Amino acid sequence: MLDESHPASRLNSLPEGYRALVIGAGGGIGRALCKHLRADPRCARVQGVGRRQSPFVDFEDPASIESAAHALQDGHPWHLLIVASGVLHRPDLRPEKRLADLNAQAFSKVLTINTVGPALVLRHFIPLLARGAQARSLVGLVSAKVGSIGDNRLGGWTAYRASKAALNMVVKTTAIELARTHKALVLVALHPGTVRTALSEPFHGQAQARDPMEAAAQMLAVMDALQPEDTGSFRAYDGEVLPW
Ligand SMILES: NC(=O)c1ccc[n+]([C@@H]2O[C@H](COP(=O)([O-])OP(=O)(O)OC[C@H]3O[C@@H](n4cnc5c(N)ncnc54)[C@H](OP(=O)(O)O)[C@@H]3O)[C@@H](O)[C@H]2O)c1
Repeated sequence: MLDESHPASRLNSLPEGYRALVIGAGGGIGRALCKHLRADPRCARVQGVGRRQSPFVDFEDPASIESAAHALQDGHPWHLLIVASGVLHRPDLRPEKRLADLNAQAFSKVLTINTVGPALVLRHFIPLLARGAQARSLVGLVSAKVGSIGDNRLGGWTAYRASKAALNMVVKTTAIELARTHKALVLVALHPGTVRTALSEPFHGQAQARDPMEAAAQMLAVMDALQPEDTGSFRAYDGEVLPW
């Protein structure tokens, strides 16, 4: 039990003493994931990575991704990798309401942080994971339902939506490649729901958004239940398969 309202998560599908990596560990969802994993008695090590962590990673500095992966190579496999970083707004980035709001520099920053960064994490961190027919490992990239092309009914937020749709393609394509070499690895895109964090704060009333601890527990439970044949899918926090 983490506290009154949050029972500790247990990732029973991973080996006893499993090791977990959370990229974006300083964010609202990243912090909640780390708390749950640190409370799981089966988890031997939780390593946060990010702009406020060591090892340091800033997706606007791609070399930092390779350096962080290098720093975490200690001859022992990692079993869980979650990328919980992302940007929707910052002082120099505003999600577009209409076509006239599009700005080349802002658009490419959003793609750099939400798509290229996580793709490079896969490139440099997958070699740290357990490999082999029996070596189960789980990889989740936190995406967003607004990145679903099939589900887009409202429009707006062009760069953010495009960056998450492209992230979903990175997941699908990489999952096909890894299925050949990492038979027991499961790689998915995850939608956390609307969660009470700095990212969602300007757009949703506090009442509408969900507790990050609840969202984190649900995403961990979804990942724990996935099988190798589920690799390359786009899942919501309740396990629902979302349309691309
Ligand atoms: N909250 C929601 O309602 C919601 C809904 C759908 C999807 N999501 C997705 O959930 C993920 C986590 O978001 P959140 O809600 O937890 O937001 P958050 O609290 O704002 O956290 C964002 C995280 O991204 C990291 N980040 C931002 N720019 C970065 C960069 N240049 N390089 C490396 N890391 C960077 C931040 O690092 P620092 O700690 O250094 O700032 C922070 O760890 C994102 O992918 C977001 O798109 C969230």
